[in-house]
Amino acid sequence: MIKIINNYFILSGEDFSYVISVDKFNHLATSYIGHRLLDGEEVTALSYRESFPPGSSVVYDESVDPDYSYDQRPLEVATLGKGDYREPSIILRKNNEELFDFKYVDYQLKEKLSMEVKLPTPHDVNDVLILRLRDERNKVSLYLQYGVTETAIVRNVKLVNESEDDLTVIKLLSLNLDIPNQNYTLYAPYGSWASEFNIAAKPLTPGIYVHEAKTGSSSAKHNPFTLLLKNGLSSTSGPSFGFNFIYSGSHYTAYELSTFDNIRIQIGLNPSDFHPVIKPNEQIETPFAVLTYSNNGQNGVSQNLHQFTTDHILRHEHAKAMRPIVVNNWEATYFKFNEKKLHQIIDNASDLGIELFVLDDGWFGRRNDDTGGLGDWTLNPKKLPKGLGALSDYAGKKGLKFGLWFEPEMISYDSKLYENHPEWMLHVEGVKPSSGRHQYILDLSLTEVQDYLIKSLSDVLASAPINYVKWDFNRVFSDVGSIKTPTNRLLYDYYLGLYRVLDEITKAFPAILYENCASGGGRFDLGMLSYFDQTWTSDNSDAGARLIIQSGAALAYPLVTISNHVSAVPSHQMLRSTPLHTRFNVAAFGVLGYELDLDDFNPLEKKWSKAHIEYYKKHRELLQFGKFYQLANPSTADHYLWCVVSENQDEALVGYYQVINSLIKGQDRIKTVGLIDDALYEVEVLRQDHEIKMFGGLVKMVLPPGIEADGKIVTALNKRQSVESLMKIGSNEKYLVSGKALNDGALLLNPQWRGTGINQTTRILGDFGSTLIYIRRHDA
Ligand code: DGJ
Repeated sequence: MIKIINNYFILSGEDFSYVISVDKFNHLATSYIGHRLLDGEEVTALSYRESFPPGSSVVYDESVDPDYSYDQRPLEVATLGKGDYREPSIILRKNNEELFDFKYVDYQLKEKLSMEVKLPTPHDVNDVLILRLRDERNKVSLYLQYGVTETAIVRNVKLVNESEDDLTVIKLLSLNLDIPNQNYTLYAPYGSWASEFNIAAKPLTPGIYVHEAKTGSSSAKHNPFTLLLKNGLSSTSGPSFGFNFIYSGSHYTAYELSTFDNIRIQIGLNPSDFHPVIKPNEQIETPFAVLTYSNNGQNGVSQNLHQFTTDHILRHEHAKAMRPIVVNNWEATYFKFNEKKLHQIIDNASDLGIELFVLDDGWFGRRNDDTGGLGDWTLNPKKLPKGLGALSDYAGKKGLKFGLWFEPEMISYDSKLYENHPEWMLHVEGVKPSSGRHQYILDLSLTEVQDYLIKSLSDVLASAPINYVKWDFNRVFSDVGSIKTPTNRLLYDYYLGLYRVLDEITKAFPAILYENCASGGGRFDLGMLSYFDQTWTSDNSDAGARLIIQSGAALAYPLVTISNHVSAVPSHQMLRSTPLHTRFNVAAFGVLGYELDLDDFNPLEKKWSKAHIEYYKKHRELLQFGKFYQLANPSTADHYLWCVVSENQDEALVGYYQVINSLIKGQDRIKTVGLIDDALYEVEVLRQDHEIKMFGGLVKMVLPPGIEADGKIVTALNKRQSVESLMKIGSNEKYLVSGKALNDGALLLNPQWRGTGINQTTRILGDFGSTLIYIRRHDA
């Protein structure tokens, strides 16, 4: 909702208001952001005020007001040279001068966001405010566009050069926001390949902290989102802000705590690879930044970001559609597969109840390892003599849909595409380009390259029944040079090109489910999510590592976009073995899949996985679309606690994940948020039986004398029987308690194994053990 009262623009979501005002010099000030204002509530009481400018500061225009300085005033646009010495959000140069002073001219209300270039634009945003500013002397106009949704506000800028001279952009950020500090801590993701979404906690101290990616991609190093929290991770109360950026290239976020305890937050294109020259009568637009406020702590802002993504970013067709359970052949075969092996994977998957088979890398061109083939999107008939259609039909007969892997933005030297078009590779004339995973990047700023990709991919997609596409991107940028496009805007134009390709392909094949991947989470961002329904979160599928990765990703992205696979042990990435139950329990929070040679499962593992898949199908809606809470985190507890709650509060599902086992911890408690306090709920702990081998030599205590713990008999038994079936025990833990008890964390689970005995009521977890708990309203 947008209200305009005198000089105030009041932008309100369900639970927050954001107020912009025009000051006496026609600059735009951020007057307020916080709880939703009541009608008649005095915004000035909540706004920054000043009687005298701080000593030694610059007064903007003494003849009008001898006390008015921009030294600390909260501003929507920050430029250089008129008394604001914090970080500028816009730096421009014209005729060797950099003094720009944008003043408010007028406003426009609209019912749709507008974007004249192909940058991803949130859909169904019906409250839009455009504020026009102008620098009269320089003849440059600036349009600030605000879109207001239930849970978030988006903002971008458009710069129009109305002068007769070239205008150089040095910095043009999408958002500048100045707020009073309240002892906030900044939470910012960092990481690397296979180790995405670690979260750094930075209590703000005076000075500037920059959170950015200069890789040409949104990156696994620093995902573009950040959170500013009063009460830390896993909190459910306290003023909190969440920020993100709807773009897939290099990004820049700065937090500046000024000496007077005000925070400046800026988000935008990274100036390191974006500094275009705007010719007379030309314009440039920036991607949207996203901001949200909640008084419900980290969980409040994360849920706001989730809802914004589901309602305004994800494609309509798939946003609320349940995702299938996939099996992917990559870690089962890598490049070594033939039809027979793929049929075997499909057969096994079909027995388990899996719903979609994905053929990963290696099916096309001269692609027998990762040194060649990229760019040639035609089938390798030696590997699949009967063709993609036959494979898809085979999967179909077994009840599975079919998906295919591509890495369209890349080119290998060893490819027909390179033989025909060496000039399509990003490079600087006369310099040998550097490689990443032996591959190079195509120049998507060129229309002919975009057209080639649209045509060659469309041909494949039309050639067989293909229901899912995995779009990979396995390196970051170097050698940013083009035969046509100037380097100062090449990556910006690259992404305009990529978004055009994605737009055309997704429109031509709308029913396909698209999974974004960049060696895992190397480009997990709202730009890609505008075209891709889900993201392969990380190449690391070890359950222990995934607890960190998925917890981090879910701070900003909804579970339905987070794709997770159960994979083999020891994990190919961590060389660690985690229990099969935990591999499932972790992968189940979001979009479940499998990525291992299912033929290696023993009968017991098959039986358990079949039961897991059935359980997932039963609770899929909750696990993909429930309101997600993170209620504990090993930085403050000894375990992770994830919880999803249904919209109507009738159901919830909790995951309790232990990291390291301990014999001296108390009884485990689970906790929920948002259940109805005075309603009764049935609680059912998912029964998990255990491998005999988990108990090592202890197993001799229940076996006849003379049988070795690691001998043939126990090895054979281990494949078919659990400890529980051997001992004829098994815990079926069920309770009937109030919503109040669950919301307060009063429910105690059965005690864990303490090394002294085992019976019906022992919960056995061990290192990386976990428990799933389903909760349902008693009378519903
Ligand atoms: C990286 C992806 O993240 C993997 O899942 C797999 O698709 C490989 N690329 C294939 O090269």
